[in-house]
Amino acid sequence: MEFLITLVSVFAIFSTFFPVSESNNNQFLLKDGLNPFDLSQFCDAINIYGDPGCDVPSSVSSKLLIKGGTVVNAHHKEVADVYIEDGIIAAVQPNIKVGDDIKVIDATGKFVMPGGIDPHTHLAMEFMGSETIDDFFSGQAAALAGGTTMHIDFVIPVNGSLSAGYEAYVKKAKRSCMDYGFHMAITKWNETVSEEMEIMVNEKGINSFKFFLAYKGSFMVNDELLMEGLKKCKSLGALAMVHAENGDAVFEGQKRMIELGITGPEGHALSRPPLLEGEATARAIRLASFVNTPLYVVHVMSIDAMEEVARARKSGQRVVGEPVVSGLLLNDSVLWDPDFHFAARYVMSPPIRAPGHGTALQAALATGLLQLVGTDHCTFNSTQKALGIGDFRKIPNGVNGMEERMHLVWDTMVASGQIPVTDYVRITSTECARIFNIYPRKGAILVGSDADIIIFNPNSSFKISSKSHHYRTDTNVYEGWRGKGKVEVTIAGGRVVWENDELKVIPGVGKYIEMPPFSYLFDGIDKADAKYLSSLRAPINRSTI
Ligand code: URP
Ligand code: ZN
Ligand code: ZN
Repeated sequence: MEFLITLVSVFAIFSTFFPVSESNNNQFLLKDGLNPFDLSQFCDAINIYGDPGCDVPSSVSSKLLIKGGTVVNAHHKEVADVYIEDGIIAAVQPNIKVGDDIKVIDATGKFVMPGGIDPHTHLAMEFMGSETIDDFFSGQAAALAGGTTMHIDFVIPVNGSLSAGYEAYVKKAKRSCMDYGFHMAITKWNETVSEEMEIMVNEKGINSFKFFLAYKGSFMVNDELLMEGLKKCKSLGALAMVHAENGDAVFEGQKRMIELGITGPEGHALSRPPLLEGEATARAIRLASFVNTPLYVVHVMSIDAMEEVARARKSGQRVVGEPVVSGLLLNDSVLWDPDFHFAARYVMSPPIRAPGHGTALQAALATGLLQLVGTDHCTFNSTQKALGIGDFRKIPNGVNGMEERMHLVWDTMVASGQIPVTDYVRITSTECARIFNIYPRKGAILVGSDADIIIFNPNSSFKISSKSHHYRTDTNVYEGWRGKGKVEVTIAGGRVVWENDELKVIPGVGKYIEMPPFSYLFDGIDKADAKYLSSLRAPINRSTI
């Protein structure tokens, strides 16, 4: 097949109008002297599009050929070329020929894979008296540098209102430089919330709702609310998600630690042990079974929770278990570090567990007991974390991961020999797209899929440091980590956004991805309901004779 260029490539346009400068080792394509995180300055840099409001056309025409790489999908891999036109994959086959004027990237000896999809992030989230330091621009820019091309963030309702929460997040996401979707948290229950859930699903493209069984006094819901929510999710074809820790027991555990004089970050881990995660996971799974609706358990951090997910799946229940990178790789020794500031970086909930849990979670991921990897990216800088000096309950919970996930999962799972490269694509991208019903638009390198692609060099290496990461936050829980493999090129929506260790991101071009209800997880639910009803052998007709 022969493709000839007719338009000047978008890359030539960008390089003409946006001279490159370096700032603080974060290599964004910007005018000299611009701070990569000051968006008003950034808007100036894209005034070429004529809109001072930073609204860049999202459909800049682009043609691109990736040549000679091994194209990896979750179901198959083959050596092939990938041709992209206007943000969409137009052809996947060997020996595609194009004119000299089309940009060609040589991927010989490298893997060409779907960009990562991070199912679990918190950008610009108001939480524990602070707001996460990475917003939809800085978090996404960092993610693109690490090979993730889409993420799903959690909308937090405003005073329980889903509509107000949704509107707030639409504003927060305005400067997005990559595609994103929304989950929605449910923090209280009444008729309005129930009706708003319908609006979110039918009009706003949200197909998942998260229930926090922890964070007593703020986000936490009780079993009655959880059951109402599960029923509503089922009727809408929306996926119920749970943060599974017993919030009442955690509250008790926190009191116990303070009474014992344990006020530092180690008190965080001690106050919410794995059994409280196991209990809440088991409870949520049983209630979802009682309602007969699928359940997604976010940030599975312990063997206790993982075994509950595995047991339910073995019995045929539709339960998805999501480990996060921190839970797979880190262990709780850091929380006992004598330096408060160092230890506080690692405070997240559920806590990072004792050695042994992470390796068990890796094995569960490798064998399909757990299904996909998220990050729970939720960053607070050193000043914000310092709010908890003298009382671990006040340390804002959360760690980074959006930029590191693809590299760390490769190194830990593929380079170590635990999974093949096709499974890497499945757990970092495809499974997320399937669960949230956007496959094969996302999560695949197929004709017609969005051109969200990474070129990965397994023979190169990566190193992580807060000095070179692309976040706003000043620390990194993976500081100093090195490993095998490197995302050399990231293509998002058909545009090369990361190449030669240089980011070329534009605020405003990221698209909101609507996610329709009734994913494959709902297939057959009606049949199970019918089977249940016919098994009741009731009511018995007891007519009095
Ligand atoms: O510590 C965490 N996980 N922070 C983010 C909020 C949540 O529970 O997901
Ligand atoms: Zn959570
Ligand atoms: Zn989270």
